[in-house]
Amino acid sequence: MIFHVLTLFPEMIKETVSHSIIGRAIKNGLIKINPVNIRDFAINKHGQVDDSPYGGGAGMVMMAQPIFDAYKFIANSSKTPNIPVIYLSPQGKVFNQSLAKELSDDFKLNGEMILLCGHYEGVDERIIEEIVTIEISIGDYVLTGGELAALVLIDSISRLLPGVLGKEESFEDESFSGKNKNLLEYPHYTRPAVFNGKEVPDILLSGHHGNINKWRDEQSILRTKLKRPDLLTVG
Ligand code: 6GU
Repeated sequence: MIFHVLTLFPEMIKETVSHSIIGRAIKNGLIKINPVNIRDFAINKHGQVDDSPYGGGAGMVMMAQPIFDAYKFIANSSKTPNIPVIYLSPQGKVFNQSLAKELSDDFKLNGEMILLCGHYEGVDERIIEEIVTIEISIGDYVLTGGELAALVLIDSISRLLPGVLGKEESFEDESFSGKNKNLLEYPHYTRPAVFNGKEVPDILLSGHHGNINKWRDEQSILRTKLKRPDLLTVG
């Protein structure tokens, strides 16, 4: 499965995905990351990829042509028809775990997706009309560019793909998924049994799995009420 990333900063993508679980998934051939430098498709001799906005005003706008040509290059060198294009932008649909699940299911079917990273004031509106399938934001704050957002999508989508997480990293009990859709995870403890005078809850040392599971479910509800009461009021 291939994530193509249309970006002005391919090194930022390549470096970040080389670590930990995503790095291992790439080494194992489960996923492939293909950063494509939009600047390589500039036709201007200065490698220009942005220009001032029609109508005036502050900032620069990413030109349609280099992005479109970079997109065509990916589309033409792939066997997959209609590869979905995700434009990372603060104007997009707000990303969450159910959207990550939907995109990973689509990804399993399509085998490829294109992530378009904007910079400056964004991209020429006609690029959104011509090639973008869905516009996604990773939250209500402003980033300097779409690369970090693309990396958030790559990470959260990849870990839902078969074989990416090991048994140890299983996502069965985790927040926002499965039976815990609207609940945070229960607290975790590991050795030593006493740290800075604080003991691990007795129940976890009892060996009684029924009681432990019950305690964990209660703790999940308790801490969701405390830390994220907003989660309990959504469907
Ligand atoms: Cl996807 N891009 C930018 N530039 N800012 C953001 C964002 C994306 N998501 C939240 N803020």
